[in-house]
Amino acid sequence: MTIETRSPSDSAIKAIAARIDRPLVLVGMMGVGKSTIGRKLAQLLALPFRDADDEIEKAAQLSITEIFERFGEAHFRDGERRVLARLIAGPPRVIATGGGAFINEQTRQLILERCISVWLDAEIEILAARVSRGRDRPLLRGQDPLAVLARLADQRNPIYAEAHLIVRSATGPHDEVVERIVSGLVESGAWPASAL
Ligand code: S3P
Repeated sequence: MTIETRSPSDSAIKAIAARIDRPLVLVGMMGVGKSTIGRKLAQLLALPFRDADDEIEKAAQLSITEIFERFGEAHFRDGERRVLARLIAGPPRVIATGGGAFINEQTRQLILERCISVWLDAEIEILAARVSRGRDRPLLRGQDPLAVLARLADQRNPIYAEAHLIVRSATGPHDEVVERIVSGLVESGAWPASAL
């Protein structure tokens, strides 16, 4: 389901927060704002928040850039899969994933079966402008961000589209994106049946 509505009432927010019995997982391309939006969403719903990239760095005692440099992408993906499995097995909370996490089939199946997933989608040009200003991302190093993001979006968007909820043009003001997610949760019949 694609989310377009806005401004859920306080009582609707409370009602939806009370019904959330599983992790709420944000997926989508780098630069879309999963971490910032995730933190705000968690605050609104009075849920804990975890950032999967931060958890990977904590577990490895290395930055993501260092993991890529020292051990390569395959090693990073393996750690990412294990960290996500641990986070998903935990209590209901909001989880921001790294852009590649949902692309891993095992992780995706876990998320689709045990979580409520939300794809934050955005125009590539906006993402490219954002990542150029943002933190170091190994997949973009020394490359044209627009070209890399366009290639990744081609590969990944059909997979992100499997998420339970879709928020298009998710690069507006963060509070507005959070409201659109909550509205989608309130109105959606797209949750896994057992969450209803
Ligand atoms: C990646 C996205 C990054 C990080 C790593 C790989 C990707 O996370 O996990 O650099 O494959 O798209 P963000 O989406 O938080 O930037």
